Amino acid sequence: MDATLITLPKHHDIRGNLSFIEEDTHLPFDIKRVYWIYDVPGGEKRGGHAFKETEELIVALSGSFDVVLNDGTREYRFSLNRSYYGVYIPKMMWRELENFSTNSLAVIISSTDYSVNDYIRDFEKFKGLKGC
Ligand code: TYD
Repeated sequence: MDATLITLPKHHDIRGNLSFIEEDTHLPFDIKRVYWIYDVPGGEKRGGHAFKETEELIVALSGSFDVVLNDGTREYRFSLNRSYYGVYIPKMMWRELENFSTNSLAVIISSTDYSVNDYIRDFEKFKGLKGC
């Protein structure tokens, strides 16, 4: 499955809205881990790597930021500013998160446990592995 924007359910209510993620309904992978990124200082970027095996879904639970993906050839930019959208990122996709608004909260649903060995942090090496 390619990188794609996934629209999650949204239950509108005068008491407030509710959204959710179900592994079998909304994700093309099984959930092994959830982590979140917050208190990002203005102008900072996160990511700057690819994963050999890990697939992820990134949701802007609060605030806004951009998810910039690169498959070795083309760049794809997803601007997230609603908590009912998620960006699905397949394995072997370079990613950066940038343009974080104040108090933004990124939650990342992940298909693997954390492993330093799954990271590719050199873009040229990444392109080589992609055959680009
Ligand atoms: P890193 O993946 O480099 O952050 P980014 O989201 O910007 O790509 O992770 C930052 C640090 O946190 C690094 O030292 C590894 C640690 N870390 C964990 O221990 N567990 C995790 O699940 C993640 C994502 C990171």
